[in-house]
Amino acid sequence: MTPETPKTIIVTGGASGIGYAFCEHLAQIGHRIVIADLRGADEAAAQLRQAGHKAIGVKADVVNEHDVAAMADTTVKEFGGIDGLVNNAGLFTTLALKPFDQITNAEWMRVMEVNTLGPFNCAKAVVPALRRSGRGRVVNISSVVPIKGPPNMAHYVASKGAVIAFTRSLARELAKDKITVNSIAPGFTLSDGVLQSDLQNRIGDNARTAGRCIQRDQLPADLVAALAYLVSDGASFVTGQTLAVDGGSVFL
Ligand SMILES: NC(=O)c1ccc[n+]([C@@H]2O[C@H](COP(=O)([O-])OP(=O)(O)OC[C@H]3O[C@@H](n4cnc5c(N)ncnc54)[C@H](O)[C@@H]3O)[C@@H](O)[C@H]2O)c1
Repeated sequence: MTPETPKTIIVTGGASGIGYAFCEHLAQIGHRIVIADLRGADEAAAQLRQAGHKAIGVKADVVNEHDVAAMADTTVKEFGGIDGLVNNAGLFTTLALKPFDQITNAEWMRVMEVNTLGPFNCAKAVVPALRRSGRGRVVNISSVVPIKGPPNMAHYVASKGAVIAFTRSLARELAKDKITVNSIAPGFTLSDGVLQSDLQNRIGDNARTAGRCIQRDQLPADLVAALAYLVSDGASFVTGQTLAVDGGSVFL
């Protein structure tokens, strides 16, 4: 079997956590990686280059239109085009868990801004290049929480529901341009941010392992093959879908 032609793929929030695991795996299977993050993008890209991969870092806030326009321009200048966008940056691990009526309007709007305006901004910025690619891929990182509806994180749950809905709408709009748009819904995952914030001890056993068919902790490495599939040429007839990768806590 001939390996497929490598793609140039931007991963937002790719400097740490699940995002970095995505970058490392995509680089290992031959793709060119652009790590876009608020912090640590250059260092993370240097780590991939040291391992012999093609990668650059771009400092970008996904909420900022100028930053994401520069992210797209830099990618095209460096690699000649863009074939994929992974909207992974999101606010989760730093959120306080609290009843919905204690969430302030400012907290609600901030979560919506990063988790929903961010993917929208990034998609708008890269779509001209994805159209030129002729095999464009957008993968939005949602979550299983809109399906399960856990308490004490209503803003986050609503934002990830919006990501799934956005995925479906964009899939219909972009299919004519040979761009697929899908979503991965991870279960509770022991990412860098989760470990640093001690969230694994606050989230409860049901979210963590007990509600799963496969009753063990989920690691970032559990997610990477799903992404590799969705960005592959072989997935060109799969669009608008949400793939739950969660050890079987929900069945979509
Ligand atoms: N960890 C989980 O249990 C879990 C479960 C389901 C879904 N997710 C989703 O997966 C994604 C990654 O989660 P994680 O646990 O690795 O998070 P994390 O907190 O460990 O890492 C998030 C990364 O995104 C970057 N980032 C944050 N805001 C940004 C912005 N405005 N612009 C650019 N970069 C920004 C951070 O700097 C960081 O590198 C998020 O979208 C999250 O909602 C996580």
